[in-house]
Order: sequence, then structure tokens, then C-alpha cells
Amino acid sequence: MKLKGKVALITGAAQGIGERIARLFAAEGAVVFICDLQAEEGRKAASEIEKAGGRAYFQTLNVTDEESWKAAFEALVKTCGRLDILVNNAGINIREPIEEMKVENFDKMLAVNVKGPFIGIKHAIALLRKGGGGSIINMSSICGLVGHKFTTEAYTITKGALTLMTKTVGVRYAKDNIRCNSIHPSTVYTPLVEEMFKDPEKKAQRFGEIPLGRLATADDVARAALFLASDDAAFLNGVALPVDGGLTAY
Ligand SMILES: NC(=O)c1ccc[n+]([C@@H]2O[C@H](COP(=O)([O-])OP(=O)(O)OC[C@H]3O[C@@H](n4cnc5c(N)ncnc54)[C@H](O)[C@@H]3O)[C@@H](O)[C@H]2O)c1
Repeated sequence: MKLKGKVALITGAAQGIGERIARLFAAEGAVVFICDLQAEEGRKAASEIEKAGGRAYFQTLNVTDEESWKAAFEALVKTCGRLDILVNNAGINIREPIEEMKVENFDKMLAVNVKGPFIGIKHAIALLRKGGGGSIINMSSICGLVGHKFTTEAYTITKGALTLMTKTVGVRYAKDNIRCNSIHPSTVYTPLVEEMFKDPEKKAQRFGEIPLGRLATADDVARAALFLASDDAAFLNGVALPVDGGLTAY
């Protein structure tokens, strides 16, 4: 087990990629704190992990709200006594190109995708330091590495900010044995994508741009997160790790 005895807080873990990360971390021995706005889904995810023999708790968290973060860390300390891994996974994408985007929507994306991880890291550092170090993982995107015609300017702005926040945190807190890395998935296969792929032209376009010839799965991303969280990545710090089948290698 790669995370035995570790405690991990994962945001946006009620569904999607975050939920797969929570399941994998728990299967590898971590106690997982599933944090999300969606209480019903989050509780369900935690109880499924428990049924499978893992340890999981659900905590309501709005990542844009500092008081909500403080309450989550207080609950975590009360329950688990320590923090070893923070995964800033919660993210949103309002798909409006720059010409059409309402500024309120841009603000919403900045709040969830950038301010959220910022506040989380701000309050996690002291806890990680107290435990002798740890791993912070920020869920960026290929859109935090390169421009892409299928995405929006707002999304690239938020994910690019996360890429560089990661590097600065990694450099500053390495002295405390805190590593900070980011993950950059290409499109992940979800029901939403399946809907889009009813259009064969769109499907061919998306598959065609990926050298490995398929989309990412949430488990592909979860395995990368496990690697970065574990001691296997003990000397990886400030790294931007693409999980994209080679898309950004062109
Ligand atoms: N799905 C993809 O193709 C893809 C590709 C690259 C990167 N990503 C990134 O991966 C992460 C997860 O994506 P996903 O596809 O699993 O998304 P998802 O929409 O399935 O899940 C996101 C979760 O975040 C939660 N959330 C949203 N706002 C929140 C807030 N303010 N506070 C707390 N929780 C909040 C939602 O309730 C949801 O459970 C995101 O950061 C996304 O940008 C996704």
C-alpha cells in the first residue's frame, strides 16, 4: 500500500476525477476527506469507500470561501489529527469564448479554479509542516500548458495560473519537505463527452489530436495523482505532469 497511514483532503471529490482519486487513495491505505459542495453525492462516495473497506469522511466545502476551508481543516484535525496530502481538484468551466463571456462568469471561474486552491494551500501549509511535510497536488489541465482551439480563454487563464502557483509553492516550501506538483489531463471520458461524441465529426477531431488515439479516463488521472502523492515521487517538486496521451508533446 502506497499511502498507508496518510491523511488526504481532496476537493471536488463527490464525483468525476476527484471521486476516482478518493477511491484509489483509500484503496492504497489513506484516510480520505471528501470535500465538495454536493453533500448527497459526497456522502455516497464516502460510504462506498467505507463499504469497500477503506476509511472516508465527507465534509461540505465551498473552496471559494475561506471560512468554509477553515471549518474543513478543523474537522479534519479533529477526526484524523494530521494532514499529509492536499488535492486541489475542484474546478469549473463555463464554456464562453472571451468575446461572449460575462465578466461575472469569469469571476466565478477565477474564484473556484484559482482562489480556491490558493486558500486551501494557505491553510494546509502549517498542517503539512507540523506532520514533517507532505504533497500538494493541483488539478490543472493541458489548457494550463498550451493554447487549445476547443477551450476558452477564461479556462486557460485559471489553469495557467494554477501551473505557476504550483511551482512557486514547490520552491518556497521545499524546505519544509512539502512538494507541490500539478496534473494536466486532456479531455477525460465522461457522460458529458459521450453526449458530444454523438456528432461523429467532433469525435474524430478529438481522438485525432491525441497520439495514443483515445481519451483519458478518470483512472488514468487518479493513478498520476497517486504517484505524485506517494513516496515514489519523493524527488518530484514543481512538476507539471501531463496526462494527455502525448497531446502536448507536438
Ligand atoms: N473532465 C475533463 O475532461 C478534465 C480535463 C482536464 C482537467 N480537468 C479538471 O479536473 C478537475 C475535475 O474535473 P471533473 O471533470 O471531474 O469535474 P466534475 O464537474 O465532474 O466534478 C467537479 C466537482 O467539483 C465540485 N465543485 C465545484 N465547485 C466547487 C466549489 N466551489 N467548492 C467545492 N467543490 C466544488 C463539484 O460539485 C463536483 O463534484 C477540474 O479541476 C477540471 O478543471 C477536467
